[in-house]
Amino acid sequence: MFEVIKRDGRARIGQLKTPHGILNTPALLPVVNPNVLTISPKEMEEKYGIEALITNSYVIWKTEKLREIAEKDGVHKLLDYNGCIMTDSGTFQQYVYGDIDATPEEIIHFQKKIGVDIATMMDIFGRPDMDRSEIEYAVNETNLRGIEALKLSQGTMLNGPIQGGVKWDLRKKSAELMGKGEFAIHAIGGVVPLMEQQRYLELTKVIMSSKPHLPPNRPIHLFGCGHPMLFPLAVALGIDMFDSAAYALFAKDGRIMTPWSTIHLDDTEEWPIITPSLSQFSPKELREMDSENRVKILASHNLEVCLAELARCREAIRAKRIWELVQNRCNENPYLA
Ligand code: GUN
Repeated sequence: MFEVIKRDGRARIGQLKTPHGILNTPALLPVVNPNVLTISPKEMEEKYGIEALITNSYVIWKTEKLREIAEKDGVHKLLDYNGCIMTDSGTFQQYVYGDIDATPEEIIHFQKKIGVDIATMMDIFGRPDMDRSEIEYAVNETNLRGIEALKLSQGTMLNGPIQGGVKWDLRKKSAELMGKGEFAIHAIGGVVPLMEQQRYLELTKVIMSSKPHLPPNRPIHLFGCGHPMLFPLAVALGIDMFDSAAYALFAKDGRIMTPWSTIHLDDTEEWPIITPSLSQFSPKELREMDSENRVKILASHNLEVCLAELARCREAIRAKRIWELVQNRCNENPYLA
């Protein structure tokens, strides 16, 4: 299902076949919150040519109005989108809120029922601050749930996440265990706290202790990574897919992405980078705009910056210069140095 077209070291350009078309990688799957459509899936498809997006099956399952439509007409009708739809399982909500009221089996059945292209099993989120026995539990329980999820998901592509916190041998163990199952893709999970705390050396080690122990013919996804400054490094380490709500969440706070940093609208007199969305406005004009329109423009800009950086990554792979791009980005940002 996944064909590698070009390589530069561990970086690769590939094509993943899904029931709703081919996904060209490396790719960003924008997170779509079905309750808050900052940029509509239709616009993502038509304006930006986005081939895949990710949404949360647990959020749909929990929201009666959404669940009814999804069960009756399918998730593609619900979101009004014809590309590939991947769903997450509620694991992240469990990490944020402590508990959720769906079982791993219910969530797999539901994803299958609503016709998602790539479903995600309910893994156990291994936090970086967990001790060894807690991380061991997360790795082993995720593996056991994976075996069951594979039986229940027959006919739907399944994502088998890798856990292991910041225990490198347990990352390797998780990759080896999960790699034995017939998963269509693997996502490296449990890394959001590392990115929030800008712990990029540990993020690098997480990828390096997981990726080499996974089957080479499967795409590798990095859960929750959506800042363009991380794309070249992650791609050079073998990541094929990303997902994040950052483009929209940053926009709500007036935070503007560049390929090398984040700046704030309040501190900006002139744009350090021009995108189609920003080009028609000055920073002052945006500050004075009503909040709904401002958030939409900033979210569109953030998405445009992400898409352009991934295009740069693909061009760098074609030219066998991905590490040059990584070096440039590392020189441009002190946290990456
Ligand atoms: N979203 C962000 N991190 C994770 C993770 O570790 N697992 C899942 N399923 N979703 C995530």
